Amino acid sequence: MKKSTSRASNKLPLSLSFDSRAPKADVLVVFATEGDKAPKFCASARVLDDASGGALVRASTADNFHGKKGQMLTLAGPAKISAKHVIVVGLGKAKETTHRDLERTALPLVQALHARKAASVSISGFDEIEFKDADSAQAAAHYGVALQLSSYRFDKYFTRGGREKKPSLTKAHLVLKNAAAAKKIYAVEEKVAHGVYLTRDLVSEVPNVLYPESFAAIIKRELSPLGIEVRVLDVKDMTKLNMGALLAVGQGSARPPRLVTMRYNGGKKGQKPVAFVGKGVTFDTGGISIKPAPGMEDMKWDMAGAGAVVGVMKALAARKAKANVVGVVALAENMPGGKACRPGDVVGTMSGQTVEILNTDAEGRLILCDALTYTQEKFAPSHVVDLATLTGAVLIALGQEFAGLFSNDDAFANNLRKAGSAVGEELWQMPLHDAWDKSIDSPCADIKNISGNRDAGSAIGAHFLKRFIKDGTKWAHLDIAGMAWTGKDRLATPKGASAFGVRLLDQFVRDQLEK
Ligand code: BES
Ligand code: MN
Ligand code: ZN
Repeated sequence: MKKSTSRASNKLPLSLSFDSRAPKADVLVVFATEGDKAPKFCASARVLDDASGGALVRASTADNFHGKKGQMLTLAGPAKISAKHVIVVGLGKAKETTHRDLERTALPLVQALHARKAASVSISGFDEIEFKDADSAQAAAHYGVALQLSSYRFDKYFTRGGREKKPSLTKAHLVLKNAAAAKKIYAVEEKVAHGVYLTRDLVSEVPNVLYPESFAAIIKRELSPLGIEVRVLDVKDMTKLNMGALLAVGQGSARPPRLVTMRYNGGKKGQKPVAFVGKGVTFDTGGISIKPAPGMEDMKWDMAGAGAVVGVMKALAARKAKANVVGVVALAENMPGGKACRPGDVVGTMSGQTVEILNTDAEGRLILCDALTYTQEKFAPSHVVDLATLTGAVLIALGQEFAGLFSNDDAFANNLRKAGSAVGEELWQMPLHDAWDKSIDSPCADIKNISGNRDAGSAIGAHFLKRFIKDGTKWAHLDIAGMAWTGKDRLATPKGASAFGVRLLDQFVRDQLEK
């Protein structure tokens, strides 16, 4: 069995080119917008319609194609055109089209191409649409990224199934006049896609292969070459630092916990860093407070917060962001066993506070509290964002459309929210309350790790973490339990690991630290 992610670390599946003329390809893709009665074909579509003796217009009538957002018209074996297929992608009402509308078409298009076993595609018309929020070079570059992200698959464990399972599409040509400008933008955006791929590989990886030690080794292998200083703390180091809560979660497993720090200095010397802290529970059985069997396999992605932190560090370093950023991930496997912590145990933490563990399944907050203390003491960050698949309750509150956002600073929270909206990773700010803070006072220690009832479960988790935030540190907690793994295809994200947080935090760094 392969020991780690096997993807060549900087290779995306599609070889992309930006061209000013359409090269030959298996499939030609063109655009149409929505008209009153019939679709409005863009210029490149009209050229193909003429060449094929009006086949596109006939097909659009026959197929009820109006050029609506998300509609796709496919013509197989068109006469007098060398390509095997022509696909017309509908973009909705002209002048209302955003580059996000365009991006939304990438995943269905990739799937349509795959279904037809196309190896190459040539996409024309970026100059023919007026996007509300982008010029043609930006639109084409972002479309290129969306095609890459839509082509993600985790297939390293298939040995049979032949070609069906292997992606057929290897080449995409994006055609526009200012190909050089698009290429330049893409060269930067592609680095973010590398980060997303790393995160998706980590989050998809199976739990007998990804565990704290192997996770730490992948971080070293992936990030050190980019000039990121990676340090790995083991059980001995953590014992010295009194990380009793993190150690308690890890002690039931044969695979010892780790804490990994990643330091990237691309900004001004002496400027305080921003810190991203991730929950990395490589498998969450619940421990002695064991989870029910159905669906437990999902808990392999209980390290998605840590995965996102690693991915965004990769993106930032690869695109040489002008910012000082620290990543910290707490890695542990939450298992029951003879050495596991019990409900009722009281442990010390690096902060000096004691914690009564009443439910061993509320383990994310336990590993994060020591990671948060360490982050603040070691790096004195101005801002801290933690990402964690912390509570099932956030799924009840926000479903799979928003991650929960808690913060001690509204301006900071707003900036995160804005960054999320800009990249299609939405956050919804949720409240903190003194009464909830009180509800985690323990009768026999400083804090207990659950309140004892089901009320405001996500906020209780946030309040636990807040007890470990120093005065003056701006802090935000993203509960990504509903977003880390998607049950349905969404924007440039096929079913599965989403890498939620990577693009959001990259955008936050651009907006707030690089301006
Ligand atoms: N990793 C889980 C939260 C989770 C649940 C993530 C479902 C993704 C999908 C977390 O460690 C957990 O078990 N939380 C408990 C907390 C409770 C014991 C206070 C929960 O949500 O039930
Ligand atoms: Mn748990
Ligand atoms: Zn968990």
